[in-house]
Amino acid sequence: MRTSARLDRLPPYLFAQLERKIAEKQAAGVDVISLGIGDPDTPTPGVVVRALAEAATDPGTHRYPSNRGRAELRQAFADFYARRFGVELDVEREIVPALGAKECVFNLNIAFLDPDSVALAADPGYPVYTGGPLLTGAEAVLMPLVPALGFVPDLDAIPADALERARLIYLNYPNNPTGAVVPDGYFERVVELAREHDILAVHDASYTETTFDGYVAPSFLETPGAKEVGVEVFSLSKGYNMTGWRIGALVGNAEACEAYWKLKTNVDSGMFEAVQLAGVAALNDASIARDMSAVYQRRRDIVIDALRAIGVDVEPPKGTIYVWAPVPDGHDSASYCEHVLEESAVVISPGGAYGPNGEGFFRISLTVPDERLAEAMERLRGSLGG
Ligand SMILES: Cc1ncc(COP(=O)(O)O)c(C=O)c1O
Repeated sequence: MRTSARLDRLPPYLFAQLERKIAEKQAAGVDVISLGIGDPDTPTPGVVVRALAEAATDPGTHRYPSNRGRAELRQAFADFYARRFGVELDVEREIVPALGAKECVFNLNIAFLDPDSVALAADPGYPVYTGGPLLTGAEAVLMPLVPALGFVPDLDAIPADALERARLIYLNYPNNPTGAVVPDGYFERVVELAREHDILAVHDASYTETTFDGYVAPSFLETPGAKEVGVEVFSLSKGYNMTGWRIGALVGNAEACEAYWKLKTNVDSGMFEAVQLAGVAALNDASIARDMSAVYQRRRDIVIDALRAIGVDVEPPKGTIYVWAPVPDGHDSASYCEHVLEESAVVISPGGAYGPNGEGFFRISLTVPDERLAEAMERLRGSLGG
């Protein structure tokens, strides 16, 4: 059997490898604490589950859904964007429900890239920004996140040839994996760049609802001119504890939404309508994301305090469900994470897996209960030299 050259170009998906390693340890009776994948540990709020249960009893939700998404869900996204960001969205032309941000990001590559074209992807970054272009036969050109600039790419450093061939630029704030938030004025510069080079700016807003210390994350679409050149990928996964439900949306530029929708009519058959109605319940309840942010802020502090106690000085992130920290001297990120897993049965993610510029760092997910997190940090102490 021959797999496609496109598939063969892909490195193995990081979390697939991690899951295998965890399963091996657990089968051997080891108590593994996984701070690897960012998958919220607490259940989806009852108000959302009840909305699903009720909607699922209505046979009207059981048939093929419309790819445009139910009017109620598009309206709920529009209301949310207006309330939360002051961004007006046309429910007919500027909102397409997605089966999660991952599906959306991946399919944007199919909709916008040809084999000779380029997607500009932040390094380190969410792996689908690079895997997606590879799978379409196009090229991902990495833009290093520069710590001195606040972990954003230096837009002036993007090679001219890449800009010439670029159709997409991926950005994501609050940022996975670094936890950075977008510096003032940066999105304005992205709009200029996208306009000048005819590039679709794609802002992945998966973590805008998970923020700390009073920080309120903006939508890219708040930026003047953003809708002319860009889209935002929104997700209910992290902010609403709904990773398993697969609800997100592409919002913004109408032409881009139309292209994405056209592609999707050939790829999937939409989202179970009862799930869409549960999504409405989630989007209409502002307390969910607020409560979850409080949980993650508490856990962030557990991790930051523990790291500081052993001399690892890390700036507390203002958002996301991750802490990004430097590996101790004498290790690269993969060898350090391997070492921690073997010595302490704690899973952390090697920074290098998010791109070459992630080398020298590791990522901790805040998605285990406080006591387990504290225990994991205690176990890590030895490996970190405390
Ligand atoms: C930056 C980023 N984008 C997208 C996703 C995937 O989100 P979803 O569950 O909506 O597919 C993740 C998940 O970790 C992420 O970190």
